[in-house]
Amino acid sequence: MDNRPIGIFDSGVGGLSAVRALMRRCPQESIVYLGDEARMPYGTRNRETILRYAREDLAFVLRHDVKAVLVACGTVSATALEDLRRECPVPILGVVDPAAAEAVAATRNGKIAVLGTAATIRSGAFPRAIAKLCPQAEVLGVPCPMFVPLVENGYIKPGDPAATLFAREYLEPVRAFGADVIILGCTHFPVLKATIGALVPQTVLIDTAKSAVAALEAALLKKGLCAGESGESSQFYFVTGGKEGFEGVAERFLGERFDGEVEVVTLS
Ligand code: DGL
Repeated sequence: MDNRPIGIFDSGVGGLSAVRALMRRCPQESIVYLGDEARMPYGTRNRETILRYAREDLAFVLRHDVKAVLVACGTVSATALEDLRRECPVPILGVVDPAAAEAVAATRNGKIAVLGTAATIRSGAFPRAIAKLCPQAEVLGVPCPMFVPLVENGYIKPGDPAATLFAREYLEPVRAFGADVIILGCTHFPVLKATIGALVPQTVLIDTAKSAVAALEAALLKKGLCAGESGESSQFYFVTGGKEGFEGVAERFLGERFDGEVEVVTLS
């Protein structure tokens, strides 16, 4: 049993989809969250920059005596996780492998689409992870650069006209490809699930945040690191951008009134 917090980081608010999933699945776990909004988006940057940012994010959460780290950012998971794993003294998980495993289990026709940031799609991390589990699967990656600003600015109501407009465009090649499973390969995207799902009703949508949290729970159980049931859990949120903007979006992400403690920090 270990009551130390879990460190979760993302380039911004997207990782809150993992916080939400973790709070529901493992309410006894405490969380230290870092959202590097001042430097987001990461998804438009090159690998060296993403790795540098990710190293600083990891160093920050490690300073808070965390027992494990969840990289709740598709972009960092896809481009930098192997480097971070070599440098991290506690168990560290990303969102790629758990989502790939769920997609492979769900597909019937072997055609899987991945929606992500430009850097995630360019990295080829999802096709590699899927190929390891199912070499004959076909994978189509679609960069969806407009989804992140839409989410950050609150265009997330199911069927929102702006989000629907871009979703239609991004899903066109997915339809032509014939995927029966779509991985929402960016932690910003699960809040658009209803909008995306309405356009592709026969398709299974994989929520990377949820599958990563399931994998995290399994890893904690295996290593005897779960928090005690009776312990009080806490959530601390650190942001490099503005506090007010974060709190507003956090409510939309967490789907409930946000009353967490938020502190603004500088990383470099
Ligand atoms: N949350 C990030 C991800 O999962 C996307 C936002 C960004 O580009 O920084 O890839």
